[in-house]
Amino acid sequence: MPVPDIGAAILRRLDPETAHGLAIQALKTIPLPAPRADDPILATRIAGLNLSNPIGLAAGFDKDAAAILPLMRLGFGFVEAGGVTPRAQAGNPRPRVFRLAEDAAIINRLGLNGGGIEAFAARLGALPRPLPAPLGANLGVNKEGAEPVRDYPALAAALGNLVDYVTVNVSSPNTPGLRDLQGEERLGAILAAMPRGGVPVLVKLAPDITDAALPGLVELCVAHGAAGLVLTNTTLARPVSLHSDHAGEAGGLSGQPLFARSTELLRAAHRLARGRLTLVGAGGVATPEQVLAKIRAGASLVQLYTAFAYAGPALPGRLARGLAALLRRDGFASVRDAVGVDA
Ligand SMILES: Cc1cc2nc3c(=O)[nH]c(=O)nc-3n(C[C@H](O)[C@H](O)[C@H](O)COP(=O)(O)O)c2cc1C
Repeated sequence: MPVPDIGAAILRRLDPETAHGLAIQALKTIPLPAPRADDPILATRIAGLNLSNPIGLAAGFDKDAAAILPLMRLGFGFVEAGGVTPRAQAGNPRPRVFRLAEDAAIINRLGLNGGGIEAFAARLGALPRPLPAPLGANLGVNKEGAEPVRDYPALAAALGNLVDYVTVNVSSPNTPGLRDLQGEERLGAILAAMPRGGVPVLVKLAPDITDAALPGLVELCVAHGAAGLVLTNTTLARPVSLHSDHAGEAGGLSGQPLFARSTELLRAAHRLARGRLTLVGAGGVATPEQVLAKIRAGASLVQLYTAFAYAGPALPGRLARGLAALLRRDGFASVRDAVGVDA
């Protein structure tokens, strides 16, 4: 996890969740140098936000918004904090995060654990502004007593302008019933209730939706004024290629085995949206080539979690420099020029 390399070797021997907690502590306490300025070819503007590079940290790494500034200083072009829920909740019993190292993957069944919106918003309110990069918040609902049409809009309202965008997460696999909110009627009701005139709203989908469901979801998001889609969350599928000991654990699978399916949905969404939605590609990104593949499939922005957990703090900078070189090699003048060229 993201600490200097000797630290990373030690952390890999610990339970993944314990290691993650230590990594967050280290990020908060070890002074980090300012990141190198990004190559100007990586600058992009999306939904009114200026980014110095399109590579972001995916939701779930900093669930409680405890290390936003250090994570931005590692060179991420944007950070999505959360998932945050209305009330604090413990999540599922431990162990609930498993490394599948041979598969470059993780299985987690955390269950949206976290300290709740009040503490989350207070932490964001205390950050020095302006922030060095755009900040998003990933919104979820509690396991008990959820009323999605009330809860998602209330979370967005509680955050006001503390974030630059919010993501309606209806795709975490470890909260019973949450993925059912991807049904058009229920998602439509949530989107219709989101605060008007607030920050841009993204909707995060599961890779396990059917291809047939996607056209309706794209039109629904457009009709309700959503700014875009995050494709995708973790999968409940277990590809036959997995060979790690923990492949049979229950939960959401992330990392390399998710790359193909999440990219396929992204490409399909790009064709369907025809420029009406901003697409954020997530799932199995570990190399500059994979960042570019997501962009070429239709992503204006890319996010990662699992590869960062394995590779550590140097990864965001390495990906950004690698992406700049690939864009030049392929004759693109900007990130935007490459969006969707393979779709
Ligand atoms: C331990 C863990 C916790 C996660 N928590 C969340 C979450 O709270 N909300 C969410 O929308 N996605 C969550 N995700 C999914 C990631 O944001 C991302 O969509 C997914 O892992 C695919 O990207 P990756 O292959 O680069 O990890 C989590 C992933 C992991 C591994």
